[in-house]
Amino acid sequence: MDSPTIRRGRDGDAPGFIALIGACWSLYPGCVLDVDAEEPHLRALASYYAGQGGAVWVAERNGTIEGMVATRPLLQEAPVPDGSTWEICKVYAAPALHGGGLGHRLLDTAEAHAIANGATRLVLWSDTRFDRAHRFYEKRSYVRSGPIRVLHDLSNSLEFAYAKPVDGIEVLDTAAATAAIARLSAILIGCVAEGAGVSFLPPLAPATARALWQATVARIAAGTHVLLAAWHGGVLAGSVGLSIDMPENQPHRGEVAKLLVDPAIRRHGLARALMVRLEQEAARRGRPLLMLDTQAGGAAERLYRSMGWVELGVMPGHALLMDGTYGDTTFFWKRLPGA
Ligand SMILES: CC(C)(COP(=O)(O)OP(=O)(O)OC[C@H]1O[C@@H](n2cnc3c(N)ncnc32)[C@H](O)[C@@H]1OP(=O)(O)O)[C@@H](O)C(=O)NCCC(=O)NCCS
Repeated sequence: MDSPTIRRGRDGDAPGFIALIGACWSLYPGCVLDVDAEEPHLRALASYYAGQGGAVWVAERNGTIEGMVATRPLLQEAPVPDGSTWEICKVYAAPALHGGGLGHRLLDTAEAHAIANGATRLVLWSDTRFDRAHRFYEKRSYVRSGPIRVLHDLSNSLEFAYAKPVDGIEVLDTAAATAAIARLSAILIGCVAEGAGVSFLPPLAPATARALWQATVARIAAGTHVLLAAWHGGVLAGSVGLSIDMPENQPHRGEVAKLLVDPAIRRHGLARALMVRLEQEAARRGRPLLMLDTQAGGAAERLYRSMGWVELGVMPGHALLMDGTYGDTTFFWKRLPGA
């Protein structure tokens, strides 16, 4: 069967838009679509988005609209209304096609348009009932951001805010880190598969990877761990942790944990950017004395040396490697300048 064709939406697509959204909402009890009362813009959606500097697309097959997506710059609502924050809106694929990749194609289309028009940050709102959509957005590197929005509408909607920078580093709070678990697990599994010395041996089971990140989220909630994530081209591609769970007599210390970059997105400077930002966060939190350890002779060792980390020593045979031998680990420390 041919896949649907994606084209720009037209005002005349209104019956297709309304049927599609109605079909998607009907999967969730209590979600009511009353176009005239609450969604009159659906009757001329292309004009609605064009009037705001945005655009809408449809996925069409044999004259039937099977998917849609829209995007617009947030000119009023953004904290800094400079056109750099774009909202992704109205992401719908026909229920029969869920899981078939159409959602990815639609989101690719809208994200590419927003980025080509200057977006540096993408945001969206998703009904708290749309659990399948949340998993999709999380796989697409969006993380929970800020409070839940209450719409006071016929469907009694509460909406999660999701966001991601196109490129950059952000500190993840508890909600954001929870939303990042799928991406972080995929990155960890990929790094372990290629032999990274980060506590695990391949093959790393998805449930074990998730458990590691769930435990990390609990430590973020407890205030004993700081987690930074890096995005590249809208993909959550790397992370690093800073443990600040130190004894009473070492309140000035922090330990770096698990610097990871997706094997498919290496050598773009993400690890260096993560470490620069981690050092800033450590300084801000009064932790000028840092420690870390890493597989001796690895790529990370070169990075740490180039950033002024001081070698404490090499412990021979410190960690089991994927080939069954024991490998050496290099221990480093760094006192942040000005401390
Ligand atoms: C180590 C790692 C985090 C580097 O990620 P990255 O985003 O590709 O690194 P960057 O692009 O920021 O490069 C930073 C520096 O690392 C060093 N480096 C990175 N990859 C390298 C490689 N393949 N060979 C040699 N040096 C390398 C270089 O010094 C580089 O600086 P340069 O580009 O100015 O020469 C990544 O390879 C990784 O995730 N490895 C598996 C997990 C791991 O071992 N983590 C360390 C735990 S302590």
